[in-house]
Amino acid sequence: MQHKGTKILETKRLILRRWKESDAEEAFAHWMNDPDVTKYLTWTPHGDIEVTRALLKIWERESGEPHIYHWAIVLREGNILIGDIAVLRADDFQERGTIGYCMGKAWWGKGIMTEALSEVLRYCFEEVGFFRIDGEHAAENIGSSRVMEKCGLVYEGTRRKFFRPPTTGERVDIVERGILREDYFKNGKSLSET
Ligand SMILES: CC(C)(COP(=O)(O)OP(=O)(O)OC[C@H]1O[C@@H](n2cnc3c(N)ncnc32)[C@H](O)[C@@H]1OP(=O)(O)O)[C@@H](O)C(=O)NCCC(=O)NCCS
Repeated sequence: MQHKGTKILETKRLILRRWKESDAEEAFAHWMNDPDVTKYLTWTPHGDIEVTRALLKIWERESGEPHIYHWAIVLREGNILIGDIAVLRADDFQERGTIGYCMGKAWWGKGIMTEALSEVLRYCFEEVGFFRIDGEHAAENIGSSRVMEKCGLVYEGTRRKFFRPPTTGERVDIVERGILREDYFKNGKSLSET
């Protein structure tokens, strides 16, 4: 595997690009301050745009690093910043990383994250050479479950009451999923070509 970092990726409706500090206003307004978005995530709504700005400053600084795979999701139509997708902890010896994503509520249910994740997987397997991509989601997070399933991440187990999202404080079961290089070239590739 040869790290290639956050290269611009394009799909029919989306442009995936590097983060900039100046994205703070849109990110805060569209999802980073919304408890419905953070319901199953590791963080709470930002509450103050300065929190968003400080975070994006870090993201912009690290955006050119070859081992960082972290994209802002932009809708081509209207050039609107709507979400975030990343391959976290990209390990070049294990050739493995973990997918993470979120998006503003206004754009849920239109197949957008499935489109973004399909393209990220194509890049990871076809261009970078990952061996495996992991995913995990709250069992009750049906939207995320469907996105991963549609993109070929198969069910590998459930960790009972494993995580307590800070937004709700309610413990949830966590479903573990994964896709291997060999799965992708058997099944997933056809997905990216459709
Ligand atoms: C999870 C999330 C990324 C899904 O993105 P999305 O663009 O709405 O997903 P898609 O439209 O590609 O959905 C894929 C499928 O799931 C379905 N789906 C999406 N949200 C759903 C929901 N809340 N309940 C039931 N089904 C849902 C879609 O209808 C679609 O169904 P289909 O396969 O029959 O076509 C988005 O809801 C989100 O950002 N949530 C908050 C953050 C989050 O939970 N991140 C994931 C943490 S693991």
